[in-house]
Amino acid sequence: MNKNSEKISGWKRFMKSLTKAHDLGTEEDIMLDHDYDGIRELDNVLPPWWLAGFYITIVVSVFYLVMSFGFNKYNQYDEFNDDVAAAKEEVEAYKAANPQLFDNANIVAFTDAENLAKGKELFITKTCVVCHLADLGGSIGPNLTDDHWILGGGVKNIYNTLTNGGRPGKGMIAWESTITREERIQLASYIISMQGTQPVNPKAPEGDIILSKNE
Ligand code: HEC
Repeated sequence: MNKNSEKISGWKRFMKSLTKAHDLGTEEDIMLDHDYDGIRELDNVLPPWWLAGFYITIVVSVFYLVMSFGFNKYNQYDEFNDDVAAAKEEVEAYKAANPQLFDNANIVAFTDAENLAKGKELFITKTCVVCHLADLGGSIGPNLTDDHWILGGGVKNIYNTLTNGGRPGKGMIAWESTITREERIQLASYIISMQGTQPVNPKAPEGDIILSKNE
């Protein structure tokens, strides 16, 4: 036997010890007597590599049992509470970093092109144009470009109108459930950016609250 074949047989022996597979051709030795409608079964042993994995899980489970009940480590309730506490902190930090998204008193109108473009897009897609027209000149709803406001101008009042709707029965519904907070701010910002523009066919001013363009 040369060195090479020794190696191969060593490897084979190792594999065999892991699987304990029954030699091919000698299946008759481990054939069970029972005949399941023509199907016969071999009584193979469980492969040792698989059994080893099984035993390892048992050992690990004992480790966890001792750690969690004995030393109160890896306790799922504590882990859950820690995670919740950490998440709450993240939420608070996010709120602190984005005050205008959470507190109405902090709402500031967007002035950047991206948010105004989004506001314009929403004004069209959320059907505002049906009642206020695409140039905001007004039809069923009032002209939104003039300095007269029924419900109050300025970003906070407009945001409030979008959120809670107009006076009952007038046709301006509350959009809180269908338009997100950020989108309502974008819409209000877009409306403010349109102050003083000249619609083709402007509706006569309505409302008693008169604001200058910069308010
Ligand atoms: C069904 C018609 C209709 C639709 C759709 C509509 N509005 Fe109105 N809107 C009105 C009416 C009517 C009023 C006046 C409410 C009042 O008199 O109380 C109004 C009032 C307003 C006001 C307050 C104006 C003021 O003078 O105080 C704003 C701002 C406004 N709408 C924005 C919007 C936006 C933004 C949308 C789309 C999300 C929208 N509207 C969709 C009919 C509509």
